[in-house]
Amino acid sequence: MPITAVTGSASGIGAALCAQLREAGHSVIGIDRANADINADLSTDEGRQQAISQVRDRCGDRLDHLVLCAGLGVTAPNTGLILAVNYFAVKALLDGLAPALSKGTEPSAVVVGSVAAVQPGVDQHPIIQTLLKGDEGEALAAIADQDPSLAYAGSKLAVSLLVRSKVHEWAKLGVRLNVVAPGVVETPLYKASTEDARYGEATRNFVAPLGRGSQPAELANVIRFLLSSQASFMHGTVVFADGGMDAMIRPNRF
Ligand code: NAI
Repeated sequence: MPITAVTGSASGIGAALCAQLREAGHSVIGIDRANADINADLSTDEGRQQAISQVRDRCGDRLDHLVLCAGLGVTAPNTGLILAVNYFAVKALLDGLAPALSKGTEPSAVVVGSVAAVQPGVDQHPIIQTLLKGDEGEALAAIADQDPSLAYAGSKLAVSLLVRSKVHEWAKLGVRLNVVAPGVVETPLYKASTEDARYGEATRNFVAPLGRGSQPAELANVIRFLLSSQASFMHGTVVFADGGMDAMIRPNRF
């Protein structure tokens, strides 16, 4: 029975994934702020270290799969929290759990990114290099007065680039690592964006070519595929599961 750790397990995509994995016979270790097997605040270094050590204890330091789903959207209380959870927590958990994954069976990990990463201009913004440099204090200071949508898109682009930078290191460990980039998923995070005074209208009008948003289970299906041996040659890739949004935004690039 594979042992799989999932952050953001209490809601949305993470909760749907945990249900599917349990149904498929995985032993699931859910991590979230509350209502999880491990309750930890991933916006803090202390919470991240607590999550890492408790996962290592619970899996006997042999972890088969890791899915980093926890995230905050543009309605988060402040822009620093968006970077802390969407980027720095992912970085800390990848680094902290890589040794346990390297001892797992056909191990693999998936990070949940976003189609927001391809938002025009974000790749040229200095916050991306600041994030990749890895100094959390500097990044949080740099984003403090910026727009939440920049923090969100920047965190998702940086986390995707972070995954791609790890392909050699993780291949040597024998662990596959990929990103799933959703478009619209009908979850509390998305609902909060549609109701936001600043972003509501634009969010509601941003419709994928398929003409609808997705259900959390549709994303969970893609994540389970990437974790499985059916995806045994997929490594360092960003899989868009977005109803055609990436192709709509940048039809001439991929
Ligand atoms: P959600 O709000 O339903 O679930 C996110 C989970 O992350 C929640 O359970 C929340 O408690 C947890 N979380 C947030 N901050 C945390 C912290 N400090 N410590 C521990 N856990 C924390 O949202 P959803 O939509 O399921 O989001 C999952 C991932 O999918 C996120 O990374 C999000 O950015 C990404 N995504 C979502 C899209 C959407 O349309 N819903 C689109 C593209 C990406």
